[in-house]
Amino acid sequence: MEIRTDFLVIGSGLAGLFFAIRAADIGTVAVVTKKDKIESSTNYAQGGIAAVMAEDDCFDSHVADTLTSGVGLCNEDIVNLVVKEGPERIDDLIDWGVSFSKKSDAPERGFDLGREGGHSHRRVLHAKDYTGREIERVLSERAEQHPNIAIYENHFAVNLITRSKLTGERRSANLCLGAYVLDIEGRAIHTFRAPYVVLASGGSGKTYLYTSNPDIATGDGLAMAYRAGAAIANMEFFQFHPTCLYHPAAKSFLVSEAVRGEGGELKLRNGSAFMEKYHPLKSLAPRDVVARAIDTEMKRNGDDFVLLDITHKDRDFLSKRFPTIYERCLSLGIDMACEPIPVVPAAHYQCGGVLVDDYARTTIEGLFACGEVACTGLHGANRLASNSLLEAVVFANRAFLKVSEMLPGKTEESFSIPPWDPKGATESDESIVVSHNWDEIRRCMWNYVGIVRSDKRLARAKRRIDLIKQEIDEYYWNFTITPDLLELRNIADVAQLIVACAIMRKESRGLHNTIDYPTKDDANWRRNTIIQQYP
Ligand code: FAD
Ligand code: SIN
Repeated sequence: MEIRTDFLVIGSGLAGLFFAIRAADIGTVAVVTKKDKIESSTNYAQGGIAAVMAEDDCFDSHVADTLTSGVGLCNEDIVNLVVKEGPERIDDLIDWGVSFSKKSDAPERGFDLGREGGHSHRRVLHAKDYTGREIERVLSERAEQHPNIAIYENHFAVNLITRSKLTGERRSANLCLGAYVLDIEGRAIHTFRAPYVVLASGGSGKTYLYTSNPDIATGDGLAMAYRAGAAIANMEFFQFHPTCLYHPAAKSFLVSEAVRGEGGELKLRNGSAFMEKYHPLKSLAPRDVVARAIDTEMKRNGDDFVLLDITHKDRDFLSKRFPTIYERCLSLGIDMACEPIPVVPAAHYQCGGVLVDDYARTTIEGLFACGEVACTGLHGANRLASNSLLEAVVFANRAFLKVSEMLPGKTEESFSIPPWDPKGATESDESIVVSHNWDEIRRCMWNYVGIVRSDKRLARAKRRIDLIKQEIDEYYWNFTITPDLLELRNIADVAQLIVACAIMRKESRGLHNTIDYPTKDDANWRRNTIIQQYP
């Protein structure tokens, strides 16, 4: 089946839904999303969204904190525009019905702004500790009600369709025409055709064995864009969140940095605080510093976790300010009001991504990328806490501004797009190949391409992942595709890109730390690592 629409949006997190709602006023929008529409990283965001809202705060301060966190690699123009457009986009969310927490003692005095690592002011708007769920609730309801938006749940985007792929012409001025999408329940691959395609497919935390990310985060959009010939940047900068819950029954559960913002302190298992050895901001230092410090201490002491202690706050405060974390801990037998929480770092956020300009345009005409899948230049070598939701909403809006200028003049491309060709693939009776390789890649990335790297570890990772990738490619073309196989192929592509960028960067900066080049090298490396293959 061929489905024609003005805008094809891949993903229904904050970036995808914000763009869809805006674009629906000027054309038809198809949103494809591989699971239920609310299933996204957005839905699990806890801490909140950073923006200059307080009277004692200012744009210059948010810009300065973002630049410091990014360790010399942020694009200053982008940082300025994101910070300055932030409050307007917050107003949009509020106008649409998002309810951010107000000061409980005097709500008329405005929002209860949280503090997180690397921020010199309280500037994080939040809905208690379920900010993402509140945003996702409002946006998905609004999108669902719009007559111009069709949401296709359980529809998995497989590959982008480009002019180069259709004509076999290898040239740099490529054009995106749509995507092949697997209807998981109908077991059919449909052609979605659109003059504008927006990748809003989120990040790739599942490339690592331990992650705060939900299962959807398999880097599909990034892998598709790379295979289609888009430029990809800075994939070595993978952010590890310092505090994920350490408990055998807690899969991917985050303990928000906002807990440290309210005075939570990191301690060793023997109860001693250690962050003052690493940074003057102690437990509220930028995220790369805190994660590295915890990693060092765990290795030095042979511990599997450290502790996050907020027992100085009373039960009433904790259960009201952090209801999700409080309840989750309690359900696992941890009472955060009277005992410290065991935590470990885990893969959290992809700072690199599909390279875009200031209007979210990728290097392929007609293809936009916003949200975590994109590399805008905002985060540099390390993202400042709560700048991700901000970036998603600002760039979704900017993508809309650009397409609204372009749409009236856009003429339909005359290419006829052939339906998906399964090339004689048959059902597989060896799904063990998928689960084994899935586990091997994630373990290899965790062990060799984690918080601290070396030339040897990266070379080892490259050898193993290249081999697995070869095996997956053979398997891919022989057997009928399934979501599991697609995700495996995508995490393998993403893993190759992370390793390739990490091997390129011969210095330590922000989230990329290697014992072979332990210092920052501004003379040679104050630049992005960019990878592009022409299809
Ligand atoms: P997502 O919200 O991840 O949405 C991606 C969408 O794409 C999903 O709907 C997914 O199903 C869909 N998709 C993916 N692949 C395909 C495919 N092949 N076909 C079809 N659909 C596909 N950031 C902050 O700024 N503040 C926070 O407090 C914060 N807390 C966080 C807490 C957690 C636990 C996590 C995991 C992240 C947190 N982050 C936070 C990061 C932030 O939530 C994400 O970076 C942001 O929500 C990404 O939004 P997005 O719209 O780009 O992608
Ligand atoms: C958190 O709540 O700690 C996550 C914030 C973020 O990732 O920006």
